[in-house]
Amino acid sequence: MMSTITVIGPGAIGGLVAAWLCQDSEHEIILAARTPFESLRLETPDGPLQAHPRVITSPTEARPSEWVLLATKAYDSEPASAWFPGSMTDGSRVAVLQNGVDHVERISEWVPSDRILPVIVDCPTERRAPGRIRQRGPVSMRVPRCGLAAGFVRLFDRTPIDCRQADDFATAAWRKLCINAAGAVNALTLEPAGVAHDSEAARLMRLIVEEAAAVGRAEGANLADDIADEVVAIYREQPPDAVNSLHADRLTGGPTEIDLRNGIVVQRGAAHGIPTPCNDMAVALLKVKRVLATG
Ligand SMILES: NC(=O)c1ccc[n+]([C@@H]2O[C@H](COP(=O)([O-])OP(=O)(O)OC[C@H]3O[C@@H](n4cnc5c(N)ncnc54)[C@H](OP(=O)(O)O)[C@@H]3O)[C@@H](O)[C@H]2O)c1
Repeated sequence: MMSTITVIGPGAIGGLVAAWLCQDSEHEIILAARTPFESLRLETPDGPLQAHPRVITSPTEARPSEWVLLATKAYDSEPASAWFPGSMTDGSRVAVLQNGVDHVERISEWVPSDRILPVIVDCPTERRAPGRIRQRGPVSMRVPRCGLAAGFVRLFDRTPIDCRQADDFATAAWRKLCINAAGAVNALTLEPAGVAHDSEAARLMRLIVEEAAAVGRAEGANLADDIADEVVAIYREQPPDAVNSLHADRLTGGPTEIDLRNGIVVQRGAAHGIPTPCNDMAVALLKVKRVLATG
């Protein structure tokens, strides 16, 4: 049976997922966009994919959908919530394709918690222009084992996206958060992934990750003792010019997802009595506003 899927926020991740889902004729894909575009073009490592889903730019054009995939940056969740009423019926479910560990709390103001599925996405992806996306490696997605999970995983059966239920979702989410937390070093130095080859930058990344991992373990995640070395190795293996999304947002001068990355490490660390001075400093520095001298 054909299922209607609305993707809110067809940027890097939303556009990537939508382009792959469009290859399956069993799905009708609607893109709920802020900036309009004509078609989707995804550059994959194996060549380009073209897709022509329906693009809507006003919530009045939304249609009831079996699945709603929220793929805006987390700081745009509130304005994006305007799409929920028109896209949802009693049976609709919402998958949150955003980074962090607090997906359900983040949108439970607008959607009942038992209809929200957190999704951890792993794939370096860039949006070059509206509707123009570059996928820089294989895509994996992990969801918790729960009543909503199997239906979501099935959406990707006929795509190369490795979408699975994680036996231990807390570990998957905190491991990803450890990787993201280290990215604050890129955002602070304005240097892409290659900066991890610098020994001092790598030392700071390790300190940030060790704090994040201590908090994650207190939250029930099972993180390896050498996760800090593993994270530095992950950055060193990336293309040296790869720019993480925190760094990219800082370059534009707009808001960043620092609160859901290093910020949540600080917040949950405080609740557990675990000191997180390096993450605290990263949050403070990345929130400093430029003050222009006057007079
Ligand atoms: N990129 C990656 O490699 C990657 C990997 C894993 C996880 N993630 C996570 O995935 C999430 C999405 O990141 P991203 O990199 O895909 O961000 P992105 O490229 O900036 O895309 C976000 C999209 O949301 C759109 N948007 C914002 N407000 C909207 C609204 N009210 N209604 C409809 N659309 C709206 C933006 O529209 P405009 O075109 O107007 O800006 C943009 O197209 C983040 O939590 C990120 O941390 C990213």
